[in-house]
Amino acid sequence: MGMKYKAIIFDLDGVICHTDHYHYLAWKQLADKLGIYFDEIVNNRLRGVSRMDSLEIILERWNGAPLSDEEKVKLADEKNACYKELLNQMSPKDLSREVKDTLEYLRTRGLQLAIGSSSRNARFILSQIGLGDYFDEISDGNNITKSKPDPEVFLMAAKYLKMNPSECLVVEDAKAGVDAAKAAGMDSAAIGDAFGYAQATYSLFTFSKLIQICSVQ
Ligand code: BG6
Ligand code: MG
Repeated sequence: MGMKYKAIIFDLDGVICHTDHYHYLAWKQLADKLGIYFDEIVNNRLRGVSRMDSLEIILERWNGAPLSDEEKVKLADEKNACYKELLNQMSPKDLSREVKDTLEYLRTRGLQLAIGSSSRNARFILSQIGLGDYFDEISDGNNITKSKPDPEVFLMAAKYLKMNPSECLVVEDAKAGVDAAKAAGMDSAAIGDAFGYAQATYSLFTFSKLIQICSVQ
């Protein structure tokens, strides 16, 4: 049995681990402090979107005086400090057996495995869950100028891997991430919040279903 792709580019938050929930908790704390309504539905719009763009989405409901860029940066820093406190408590126990075993299987089948995340905290999270040296390449919020749905983060990952976009599969929980993969010319597998999204090539009911998608019958 062959493999349909040469590489898989994984989103991190909400795909490899549940840091998407920590993003929610940290934004919720800030929104509550500012008296801004915020819930899981609004949070879904932040998936794949950069920190500052996420703040702008939250501030759509801000009724106070206009905020300066400096004030916005302060708010984003405050959210990130709260988020990092949650990340500090993470350990290899936050990596599920299913994700670990699936990654291992795909690797033994000769696939290159990379990360394509909008986060500037990606490397820290990976080291917290015991995957610090695991991926062949990491493209993250530190090497891009535009976050998803722009394809930049995935195109950079493909470039680091020395692969053509058509040889890569993207795994995403963000609709913006699925759109980014499409714009990069890559197939995508949607999981979690993006499950069933029509722009995705496949939908994954569980992470381990990746093995079937990647295997040529
Ligand atoms: C993405 C998340 O992975 O990273 C977004 O889905 C988040 O919700 C973005 O805003 C940026 O993360 P960070 O860690 O750099 O604030
Ligand atoms: Mg995500």
